[in-house]
Amino acid sequence: MSVGLEVRVDGARCTRCGACAALCRSVFDVGEGACRVARQPGADERVVADAARWICPTDAIRAIARDEEPGGGSGEGARSEAAPAEGDSPLFTELATSSERVRWTLDAVPWHELEAARATPELRVVVREMAFSENATYSATQRFLEAFCDDVDFSRWVAVWFYEETRHPYVLTEWLRRVGEELPAGFVSKGRVSTPFMRSLTGTLVTNVISEVTAAQAYRRLGARSPEPLLGQLAVRIAGDEARHAASFFRFGRQRLASAPAAEAQRDRARGLEVLQAWLGGATPATHPVAQMLERLGGSAGGASLDLDFRGIRTRVVRVVGLLLDVPLRAEEDVGPALRNVLMRGRDG
Ligand SMILES: [Fe+2]
Ligand SMILES: [Fe+2]
Repeated sequence: MSVGLEVRVDGARCTRCGACAALCRSVFDVGEGACRVARQPGADERVVADAARWICPTDAIRAIARDEEPGGGSGEGARSEAAPAEGDSPLFTELATSSERVRWTLDAVPWHELEAARATPELRVVVREMAFSENATYSATQRFLEAFCDDVDFSRWVAVWFYEETRHPYVLTEWLRRVGEELPAGFVSKGRVSTPFMRSLTGTLVTNVISEVTAAQAYRRLGARSPEPLLGQLAVRIAGDEARHAASFFRFGRQRLASAPAAEAQRDRARGLEVLQAWLGGATPATHPVAQMLERLGGSAGGASLDLDFRGIRTRVVRVVGLLLDVPLRAEEDVGPALRNVLMRGRDG
């Protein structure tokens, strides 16, 4: 008897960001309205369906483990774990078209609804920090195109990512301008500075899954807490983008692992777990813009902090990275033993 997964979507919580469909469009159908479950995940779709539950920016997806007969799975043409559905290519076509279906547009931002009087000083600090860190996608794109120059599929998708990300600092900076905030000279160019990527491409993808999941949760919190209603709306839309990006990096990470020779995949798993361990240990704030932003907000006085549930975010990230790497991780304390196990198996293999 194997354990399957039954998924449900709470339509009232869904913001139609399309992250779940980016992970598994045969299970999660995002049409004109809220997402709905088209059918239950098959054996080869459990990992991505489970990831959807953790990546969904509003926790609209419930997943319940259920027993099923050996070889079971309700998916059509379920394939073995050795050839996961997410290994199909090109991912660009699938991810780019699903983004187009859900993407919000700049011309639809209702700027006339902005209530500048409700833009408190604390809120302005938060938005400044977020806008600043969002500018780093400019240099990150240069690094992606360089590091993944041999990967046509991924580098095409980076264009989609960069386009969508560019709108984030743009609308946040525009909001600041319209509420009367003056930004210092060099605000954008200083924000564009980022640190070099690590050598492991899987490690880089894991880093970006972590930062996108974290960013989605930070914007979700901003959406819920903003006393200024238009910013609240924008934050919900940006949270959805970040979650969809996390889902996309997740897919590319899975694809890379599935297509690598066994020994190389095992080394990649170790690099991914090392990235996660470093992040949990607080090493990443020195290097990643999203982590740096949260560090600055966490250290700022008064109500400027978003008062994030860091523990909840850490558990969420651990679950997502475990699914990406095919390593059973339920909590932070599982990461160290899992890394030792992967390194040992890599040596023995
Ligand atoms: Fe962003
Ligand atoms: Fe993002």
